Amino acid sequence: MERRMSVTDLKGMKKRGEKIVMLTAYDYPSARLVEEAGVPLILVGDSLGMVMLGYDSTVPVTMEEMLHHVKAVVRGARRAHVVADMPFMSYQTSPQEALRNAGRMLKEGGAQSVKLEGGVRVAESVRLIVEAGIPVMGHLGLTPQSINQFGGYKVQGKTPAAAVKIINDAVALEQAGVYAIVLETVPALLAKAITDRIGVPTIGIGAGVHCDGQVQVFHDMLGLFTEFVPKHAKRYARLADTIREAVGRYVDEVKSSSFPTDRESFVVDSSVVAEVTQPA
Ligand code: KIV
Repeated sequence: MERRMSVTDLKGMKKRGEKIVMLTAYDYPSARLVEEAGVPLILVGDSLGMVMLGYDSTVPVTMEEMLHHVKAVVRGARRAHVVADMPFMSYQTSPQEALRNAGRMLKEGGAQSVKLEGGVRVAESVRLIVEAGIPVMGHLGLTPQSINQFGGYKVQGKTPAAAVKIINDAVALEQAGVYAIVLETVPALLAKAITDRIGVPTIGIGAGVHCDGQVQVFHDMLGLFTEFVPKHAKRYARLADTIREAVGRYVDEVKSSSFPTDRESFVVDSSVVAEVTQPA
């Protein structure tokens, strides 16, 4: 990656059939590692509420919490495009409030674009934000901020009426000016139909292989979050096991006085110690 990926690069990738890779990151070291591994698009997802802050959903996440993490990721990601997730109630109350908070993500946070959940019902806000020069990524299907309405993390778009609603939402978002749309937990064939229908890239999570790109949650794919593993997550590592094992060895070594050794200790001439420990 020579320069930061732009939203027009992403549209070009869809046209050329080049797959788009997005991954979440929430702090400086994870952003650096993700970028070094070749990820061009980093999402500071409000999933941080669950995997970093220990909330039981994304609903409690605030603008201040998001900004804190967005700033850290931006310091770590020198070339990747950073997308800042808009937290629950930062854009639902009015298009003006949505614009003000989207602006904060760029001006204070340093992100290059924002993401928000919903279709037709947020289209007016999306249009206003885009007109102000802020690129917007949409998010349809299982939108976790509406978990209390869905009554659980369930597959969306399974009936003809539900599928038509998601398609109409995708078209409304494209018309409002989004540069890409995340499709979360929708049947693969529905995601394919949407991907074929719209001109902007679709980025899937639990939406099958036909999306223009894929996104995963850092802690899920690396096996860092072990409380539950969503079906859409593939574990590429088991870092929780690695950490438990390493920390366990540290505990044992401190208790048995085999850490620290001379290698981790510092020396001073014995005459100095003799001088300061002389009886008066
Ligand atoms: O918050 C998040 O991490 C997300 C992804 C799951 C798309 O919105």
